[in-house]
Amino acid sequence: MSSEESPHTPNGMPFLGHGLEYARDPIAAIEKWGEQGDIVRLEYPGQSFYLVTGPSYIQEILVKKHGSFTIGPAQRESFEGITDHAVNTSTGSDWERRRKAINPVFTGDTVETYRGRMISEITTSVEAWEDGETFDLHREMRLVTMRMLADTLLGIDVRGDEDVIIAASDSLIDRANFRRIGRYLPDWVPTPTDRRFERKVRALDEYVAECIAHQRRTEYGDDVCSVLLEASDRGVLSEREVKHNLVGLLLAGTSSPGGTLTHAWRLLAAHPSVRRSLVAEFESVASEGRLSAADVDELTLTRNVLSETLRLYPPTVGVNRQATEPVTIGEYDFPERAQFIMPQWVPQRDDRFWSDPESFDPSRWERDVDRPQFAYFPFSGGPRFCPGKKVAREEMTIALAQMVGHVDLEVDVDGAVEFTPSMTLRPKTEHRGTVRRR
Ligand code: HEM
Repeated sequence: MSSEESPHTPNGMPFLGHGLEYARDPIAAIEKWGEQGDIVRLEYPGQSFYLVTGPSYIQEILVKKHGSFTIGPAQRESFEGITDHAVNTSTGSDWERRRKAINPVFTGDTVETYRGRMISEITTSVEAWEDGETFDLHREMRLVTMRMLADTLLGIDVRGDEDVIIAASDSLIDRANFRRIGRYLPDWVPTPTDRRFERKVRALDEYVAECIAHQRRTEYGDDVCSVLLEASDRGVLSEREVKHNLVGLLLAGTSSPGGTLTHAWRLLAAHPSVRRSLVAEFESVASEGRLSAADVDELTLTRNVLSETLRLYPPTVGVNRQATEPVTIGEYDFPERAQFIMPQWVPQRDDRFWSDPESFDPSRWERDVDRPQFAYFPFSGGPRFCPGKKVAREEMTIALAQMVGHVDLEVDVDGAVEFTPSMTLRPKTEHRGTVRRR
């Protein structure tokens, strides 16, 4: 390094460095290290990482100097063995071609055409809930969002087949769990988690292959599968790339919206006045208890509740990048292959950028406050930002409004909220929801 100083290294354990502390409690660890500097160096057995929590450094990595970085191994490896030919895992010119092929289905106008079908899906799900029924809230929120997304992505009703997607998504997160000993064994040592992962992912792969075959036999629609098949007919994507991208989109797209709605319900249960205002917004916008596609633009408070939920509970632990060449970020020089983790949790709760940062206050989104762009980046930023951002926001807004408009959910949580330590912040604590119909 040519700079005089290198980033501070927080105290770690002899030989084990910072890995054990992170695996024990990822949130407490990143909060503690984040307080020690906007970039700090962390040691893991055999490798080191830079934890980047200062918005200007994050912007340099993700946007201004994005050409000096590629997606990092921690992020890429979570999808390894499932979507090797999809946008999530690829780099360089393959990534550019695949991303270009999927981008059109996720841009503004196309996404809005999905509204009507999303509204029908969530209406059917909410109508099926019985007064007094109690369910696992996190699972139910994943089910409702998955049905909405699968209809958009695959153009099919997944009712009855949801477990194929849920099981594959769970096995992916279990395999990536930082606390799992088998994660640190060589690849040729098969563990029960690896074997379960292979079985569940194979089942999802076969399921998506059947959906593709079905679409090929019928007339193409406006769903994502049809658009990708058209790209394959033009020779832009191979058939395998179509399948891997659909599997990748289903996996990337099902757990985050479901987790966000789970947190939103818990926060609303603790803030009944916000919930009452949401109900009032739904009633003033929807006619006869049902939203129309045009009504979705009027749901300002619902959108603000979700923005605030994503601020307090970002679904990913962080964005991971690796330098492809020597690079200078801020005042520091880093060598080729240096790895960076940018956790949303820390800047999104930093009192330099947010007043009373720990409090749930959707009204803060009504005020214009001058803060750095990367003090808030749940969907990441730069050319590789989440392509599902608009679909996810639409899906969650429609789902939350339609649910709140018809039911109250009493939320019962077992203790403090904890997360499974992997690349996502999946809630580990059990959340039970009891339906009270209005
Ligand atoms: C609350 C909802 C969601 C959040 C917070 C979220 C967040 C993220 C983040 C942080 C990334 C990493 C981006 C980067 O490396 O810079 C990402 C990537 C990705 N997300 Fe999402 N996501 C959400 C929902 C969705 C949905 C619904 C879909 C699909 C329909 C989706 C598809 C993807 C894909 C394909 C990638 C990989 C993009 C690439 O590598 O070029 N996500 N998402």
